[in-house]
Amino acid sequence: MAGHDDEHLLHNEIKLLGVLGWVEYRLPIFNWINNAVGTNYPTPKNVNYFWNFGSLAGIALVIQILTGIVLAAHYVPTADGAFASVERIMRDVNYGWLFRYAHANGASLFFAVVYIHLFRNLYYGSYKYPRELLWWLGLIMLILMITTAFMGYVLPWGQMSYWGATVITNLFGAMPIIGDELLLWLWGGFTVGEVLLRGFYSLHYLLAFVIAGLAIVHIWALHQHRSNNPLGIDIKGPQDILPFHPYFTVKDLFGFGIYLIVFALLVFYAPNMLGEPDNYIPADPLQTPAHIVPEWYLLPFYAILRAVPDKLGGVIALALALLVLFAVPWLDTSKVRSARFRPIYKQLFWIFLADVLILGWVGGSPPEGMFITIGQLATVYYFVHFLVLLPIVGKLESPTPLPDSIATAVLEENKRKKARKLPQVGVAPSASHGASSGGGH
Ligand code: HEM
Repeated sequence: MAGHDDEHLLHNEIKLLGVLGWVEYRLPIFNWINNAVGTNYPTPKNVNYFWNFGSLAGIALVIQILTGIVLAAHYVPTADGAFASVERIMRDVNYGWLFRYAHANGASLFFAVVYIHLFRNLYYGSYKYPRELLWWLGLIMLILMITTAFMGYVLPWGQMSYWGATVITNLFGAMPIIGDELLLWLWGGFTVGEVLLRGFYSLHYLLAFVIAGLAIVHIWALHQHRSNNPLGIDIKGPQDILPFHPYFTVKDLFGFGIYLIVFALLVFYAPNMLGEPDNYIPADPLQTPAHIVPEWYLLPFYAILRAVPDKLGGVIALALALLVLFAVPWLDTSKVRSARFRPIYKQLFWIFLADVLILGWVGGSPPEGMFITIGQLATVYYFVHFLVLLPIVGKLESPTPLPDSIATAVLEENKRKKARKLPQVGVAPSASHGASSGGGH
């Protein structure tokens, strides 16, 4: 769909000589890179800063893997040794504190980036034809990220690690018929213990690389039909695009710079702000903490889990909350992708975002009083948004007119911007006549 008739106009192979040419002839790696992130990847010229978040997610994943490998060199995956080994990393290992704080806060930022990435896709309808599989790959990565982060949180073997693992693994016991047997097998005993800890350590390490592999397939699928853009319309020809390099490599680098500033502020000035103080108490199977809460990025899901009074019901609600996202490309019946041209969906998007934030707030609060009711209402709305509103609004809403092409929309936008600036240009010199500074130009 994305202007494939104009393929030859968009593409431009690189020719290499010398050693590079020798390698390229045998393994066309340089053209492969150039097609992926170089001058040969045609990118819609109007993508905004929200299109930085995919590459940021990739960088965040690399940071997690690198810092994780260093931590693994010093970590001891035993019930007796885990907590002490993390404390040793913090106090005795050279720069151990830096790697640990970078890994823990890096996980938080990774989720923040991926959630913005996901909501960007919901706003601009990037999940729609022909990017459904790309969306699915993203969702599978999200589920793996949730699993990986949960397992990672268990590794320091603090109070919250231990009791978080107890609450969540207990959910498997809710499964009819095989529940008890499954739990026994998972725990390798009658409570959470070392077998589970070792299993989680092994999977935590492994899944990071599964996510990395899937990220490559994700980009592969992206490149098949290329990026969507804020207008949600297809690329019609060379006038609509710019080469990825240098225009978007520079833009992505700028985004990465901002990311590093936020990252540094967290790691160096507030490394424990997002964490739970109870996790600095060694795991104690005889002492349950007053409130067992997951990290902030899992709170909305935790609220959905607790919204149903029945254990199995909660697990089903949680699973459905994730599974319903896979159906979004078909639940959304609108022909128009971008919310910019969808007056009603645009409002629903913000209401849905507010609903998820409310779920997060409820997930972090004790399950009592008004929090129970609010959590249940917000959970119901979560499903109503996808299963009722999305299909109906797509049919009923009248979208505003779409521009003919990306290029015409960009030119018109520029004209509008200039028109807005013109009166100021006219005013500035006359105003500066009387002003001593005279800096109006
Ligand atoms: C490890 C996590 C992830 C990584 C490394 C990643 C990476 C990327 C990159 C580099 C892009 C292109 C740049 C951009 O459009 O921002 C992209 C696009 C996209 N991603 Fe992801 N992503 C991740 C998670 C997700 C998730 C959780 C979803 C959705 C559930 C998702 C859905 C999409 C879609 C639909 C696009 C195309 C967007 C467009 O062209 O407008 N991704 N991703």
